[in-house]
Amino acid sequence: MCVSCHGAKPHKIGRKINDHTDRVACQSCHIPSFAREKPTKMWWDWSLAGKLKDGKPYQEEGKFGKHSYMSKKGEMRWEKNVKPEYFWFNGSIVTLTAKDKIDPSKIVAVSRPVGDKDDENSLIFPFKVHRGKQPYDRINNRLLTPLVSGPEGFWTTFDWESALLTGAEATELPYSGKFDFVETTYTFPITHMVAPAESALTCFECHMRGKGRLAQLAGVYIPGRDYNKWIEIGGLLLIIGSLAGVFLHAAGRILSAKNRRG
Ligand code: HEC
Ligand code: HEC
Ligand code: HEC
Repeated sequence: MCVSCHGAKPHKIGRKINDHTDRVACQSCHIPSFAREKPTKMWWDWSLAGKLKDGKPYQEEGKFGKHSYMSKKGEMRWEKNVKPEYFWFNGSIVTLTAKDKIDPSKIVAVSRPVGDKDDENSLIFPFKVHRGKQPYDRINNRLLTPLVSGPEGFWTTFDWESALLTGAEATELPYSGKFDFVETTYTFPITHMVAPAESALTCFECHMRGKGRLAQLAGVYIPGRDYNKWIEIGGLLLIIGSLAGVFLHAAGRILSAKNRRG
């Protein structure tokens, strides 16, 4: 953990930054974006797999020289320099299994972080959210596991019906024979790729109304983001005040360093 080496209050200037570390993970401020050098796959739509040209599978290249389409796997999108999404996180992830019921009228979270604002072990943590579409059983409301390899697999037959049937037989799970595709998400906590200290998030990237980094995060009052006329003005003053404190402190250190040298 970051705190194993740095401690929970690592900031020398700007006391206000240290006030955050009980609720905001180090990674949230110090990893402003991920996949900064190499692209990362953000979208994978299996429902478009199986298209053929002249009866043969094909591939297309898109951004960053990466596949944007493959007959075997469907449509993909790659991104670089992606802003994370932020959730409360206590270190656990729950994952769906092929035996769990899903609600296909909504986006299905194949995996999601566990955490809550009222849990003292939870922090606001950054995540990569990988999105896509995958097959599910329309009658049983469960995700399906197609067989892709081998002579009966999708990559040979390009036929979902048989790939899903043989997949269900292999896993010994029930399959009604009726399938469709549902949008799903998969979450990865982001902890690598700490940026140089000067690239850490600025205060207003979170303390901003509307488009801030934490715009979607519920359950916590964030001055500047949340609107309440009087509290808002107080909150902004608080932030500007603490910012001024940071600068004054820094200026003080520079001046006293100069004095010492002189
Ligand atoms: C609210 C945002 C925020 C959080 C949370 C945060 N930091 Fe920082 N951190 C900053 C900023 C801003 C700087 C100063 C960057 C600069 O030098 O301009 C900084 C600087 C640092 C530095 C360089 C030394 C210094 O004092 O400037 C280290 C090391 C550091 N942070 C580690 C951590 C660790 C470890 C955690 C978690 C315990 C953490 N930070 C949590 C925003 C944050
Ligand atoms: C194994 C110990 C260790 C761990 C774990 C660790 N760090 Fe560091 N970190 C260091 C050392 C050592 C430095 C260099 C300190 C220096 O140069 O004064 C450093 C430097 C930094 C800096 C300043 C970089 C700069 O631009 O000068 C930041 C920010 C930082 N770490 C954040 C983090 C965050 C966030 C995590 C967790 C994801 C983390 N560290 C985990 C040991 C660690
Ligand atoms: C990663 C998003 C993020 C960044 C960046 C950030 N904050 Fe915050 N801030 C929060 C959240 C979330 C809360 C509410 C939770 C809490 O009280 O710690 C908060 C609360 C506050 C509060 C009110 C509570 C208190 O501790 O007084 C102040 C003031 C504040 N931040 C100032 C700052 C300043 C100054 C900076 C820049 C140095 C900054 N924040 C950067 C997310 C952020």
